[in-house]
Amino acid sequence: MQTSFLSKLHVGVIMDGNGRWATQQGLPRGLGHEAGVDATRRVMEAAPGMGVGTLTLFAFSSDNWRRPDEEVATLMHLLEIYLRSETHQLVEKGIRLNLIGRRDRLPPGLREEIDRAEAMTAAGDRLHVRLAVDYSARDAILAAAARISAGEDLTRPGFSRLVSGDIVRDVDLVIRTSGEQRLSDFMLWESAYAELFFTQRMWPDFTGEDLAEALAAFGGRQRRFGTTPSQAALKVAAAHTMPAQPVAA
Ligand code: FPP
Repeated sequence: MQTSFLSKLHVGVIMDGNGRWATQQGLPRGLGHEAGVDATRRVMEAAPGMGVGTLTLFAFSSDNWRRPDEEVATLMHLLEIYLRSETHQLVEKGIRLNLIGRRDRLPPGLREEIDRAEAMTAAGDRLHVRLAVDYSARDAILAAAARISAGEDLTRPGFSRLVSGDIVRDVDLVIRTSGEQRLSDFMLWESAYAELFFTQRMWPDFTGEDLAEALAAFGGRQRRFGTTPSQAALKVAAAHTMPAQPVAA
């Protein structure tokens, strides 16, 4: 685990609007998802230069299995192709990639690409990208609770480690595109004190400038973590922002 990630911002992105973007242009929804992959690339490129150490991208929720089979297959295929063809570029760019979410329901070919990408990018130290696939925050919390009831120590940092599957900083900022304003079961535990940024921009149109705009808005917020505005101004509140710690043996 590169500790450098923990001192930089953790941004979560709910990449919404691919389907509407395509429909607005008279294109099949699958092409919206393809254009969404391009936007993902742009954001990964821009993030390290903007003080972002961890980027968690919501690529497929556990509720997305309810979509038509053809669209689910398209999304799984896109992820597999992306990992197969671009992992070497992630390595060159110093990007560490991990998948969060269930793996047992994913196509075997995608699972193999994930294992390969995680192994190949493990030493990346410029940006930690966490792709949320077959991900449900409530299921992640339940799974952590099950570990606790099986005897793990119950501390907040330890529980965070179980929920996140790694030592990951609390989320600083959640961005959701396409004008929707909800969390949709995304990092509910880790986002307890996250700032929220909603934009009308459809995900396929999202650029590094949009990320900069979101971070500028974030920079203008006063994060108080329960303290008063004057305490927060003295940075008393900042002590609250802690990365998860390893679970006690
Ligand atoms: C939400 O838009 C988007 C998704 C369910 C899929 C997001 C996936 C990608 C952007 C591809 C990610 C790929 C890589 C390689 C990281 P929507 O389809 O719900 O749009 P709509 O609300 O307009 O229908």
